[in-house]
Amino acid sequence: MQNKKYYIAPSLLSANFARLEEEVKRCENAGADIMHVDVMDGHFVPNITIGPLIVNAIRPHTKMPLDCHLMISEPDKYIEDFAKAGADYISVHVENAIHLHRTLTNITKLGVKSGVALNPITPLQYAFDAAEYCDFILLMSVNPGFGGQSFITSFLKKCEELKNFLIKNNMEHIDIEVDGGIKIDNVDLAIKAGANMIVSGSGLFSGNLENNIKEMRRKIDSI
Ligand code: DX5
Ligand code: ZN
Repeated sequence: MQNKKYYIAPSLLSANFARLEEEVKRCENAGADIMHVDVMDGHFVPNITIGPLIVNAIRPHTKMPLDCHLMISEPDKYIEDFAKAGADYISVHVENAIHLHRTLTNITKLGVKSGVALNPITPLQYAFDAAEYCDFILLMSVNPGFGGQSFITSFLKKCEELKNFLIKNNMEHIDIEVDGGIKIDNVDLAIKAGANMIVSGSGLFSGNLENNIKEMRRKIDSI
């Protein structure tokens, strides 16, 4: 297969919140690579979910890196709290990170991998300009706010374009994360378009989590 590492990142949003320790361990034992943590504030997106307290609570229970996807207004206010709570990756949305260069360099200074996230119709130019300051670029394939939505297929063209940009500019070390509507039966499309950090919530947690993670791995390995 390809020489790039492919990461499976189950989204905690679809887990049973009364049993987070167990759910995280189940993901890790089934072979997941990264735990994706969706942080929503009821302002930037309509939903409210997880804060640094929960990140801190699950941190001791897994060796998997914690990938905190900040769907919040004024992300700068909270970056340090998430870093201290144990985040290994932090992404901020370009749509509301006004001083994006400063925000990304602050994340890096805290020893955390920094990422920019783009909503489905946000121009890719933001990612092009931010690329040299980040470790990963998150392209949303649904409108952020909820799990279980349908994959927006225009993601594929955008992802290919980003991948080509990274190749052309010798930035292939930057990971491309896809988030939203990814399931076992469409993960190949996202991989072929250039994504290598694969977030999946309902696609993995609906049905048998362990089997789904293993099946997704098999599917990725077979591409
Ligand atoms: C959406 C979140 C996603 C979500 C994905 O706003 O950022 O991470 O949990 O869930 P699925 O895979 O069910 O679309
Ligand atoms: Zn997410």
